[in-house]
Amino acid sequence: MGTFNATVAVTLLVGSTFLNAATYKGQKIYIDTCKICHGGGQSLAGSKKQRVWEKLMENNGEALADIHLSSKKAQGSWEYFKDRRYTKNAHHLEDFLVRYGSDSGNVPACD
Ligand code: HEC
Repeated sequence: MGTFNATVAVTLLVGSTFLNAATYKGQKIYIDTCKICHGGGQSLAGSKKQRVWEKLMENNGEALADIHLSSKKAQGSWEYFKDRRYTKNAHHLEDFLVRYGSDSGNVPACD
């Protein structure tokens, strides 16, 4: 019985570490790239529901890129949104935004 509980505990621990690693990548992208214009990641992520983020981030973040590329105010971000780095890593960003969407019940530990 003791062994069984220990196995369950270790499995849960490893599982949540993997989850955090994926979200962490997205959070890092946010801090490196979006924060200068949008401020703290949790307030932006928490400004939309999870389903809305999923829609914005469909097809490697196509809709999110369009919002920026069609706005002169967002000109400073054009280089990033046109870059392959953006489409390549869009799923990490989606992980982060969806995970902390307004209806997720999650709050990141730090910024
Ligand atoms: C150079 C500044 C800048 C950067 C960098 C930037 N944004 Fe934006 N973003 C804007 C501006 C300006 C708008 C408003 C566009 C408009 O409506 O005219 C906007 C709009 C948005 C919207 C839509 C807001 C709404 O209420 O519908 C989201 C979501 C968003 N940005 C997320 C991001 C994410 C995620 C990143 C990082 C990958 C990012 N932005 C990087 C300036 C920026």
